[in-house]
Amino acid sequence: MGRVVVVGSLNVDSIVEVERHPKPGETLMGGDLKTLWGGKGANQAVAAAMAGAEVAMVGRVGGDVSGEQYRSRLAKRGLDVSHLRLDGESVTGHAAIAVAADGENTIIVSPGANARVDSTDLDAIDAMEADDVLLLQLEIPLETVGEAIRRARARGARVVINLAPYADLPTELLEACDPVIVNEHEAAQMAEAGLTASSLLTTYGSKGSAWGDIEVAATRVDDVVDTTGAGDSYCGTLAAALAAGADRETAMRTASAAAARSVGWEGAQPE
Ligand code: RIB
Repeated sequence: MGRVVVVGSLNVDSIVEVERHPKPGETLMGGDLKTLWGGKGANQAVAAAMAGAEVAMVGRVGGDVSGEQYRSRLAKRGLDVSHLRLDGESVTGHAAIAVAADGENTIIVSPGANARVDSTDLDAIDAMEADDVLLLQLEIPLETVGEAIRRARARGARVVINLAPYADLPTELLEACDPVIVNEHEAAQMAEAGLTASSLLTTYGSKGSAWGDIEVAATRVDDVVDTTGAGDSYCGTLAAALAAGADRETAMRTASAAAARSVGWEGAQPE
């Protein structure tokens, strides 16, 4: 059974519920401010650990109180944080999230220390083995993402990437990933940029997901509390299942069930 190494972002999420999203230039009144743990990298790392994987979180938090608290929170959840750097010259990343009554959310990320993750943070990759999985997203510098992919492939490890928030990546990098995970919007952006990936997994929210010719229906959800962490739960759980040796369809089913569970709690990660 392989390990999952996540190289990615950690944010403090500031969440406000609104009836609807504001138009440009408009001010709206919202509900009480909630402050919860987030960041696509850490959300996916927590999901992978919840799915039973041994997980290492690689990245940076700031040298502030949130940074220290986040590091010890992940350690308490059993993640290896020995490659998670406290960067005293920066602040922990933050995300401003508005959740509308229809469940749709908008997110603005202020990256802080995430923007400083560089090749000197990637030592954990050089110890990866062929049955390990490297899991990436795009909230850290793209040069670091590229370097991480090349180093993991040189070790023979599998690379899974979630192209969120969307950015164009060179074909050489997309082809090194198995799979590239996108939602419908990111898939459209890829198509607009004329990019393809031979291993492409597209998620369609409540309509399910497709990986090549494998289609898996979404797990039914009756009560939706918050969809913020659904995509991350899917990616983290999929990576854990692949590291455990699951085939594509089984990994997708497990990921879909985890995503469905994740909409039952507030914020991106469970308490
Ligand atoms: O995918 C949800 C996450 O996106 C939030 O936790 C927020 O921090 C942003 O990274």
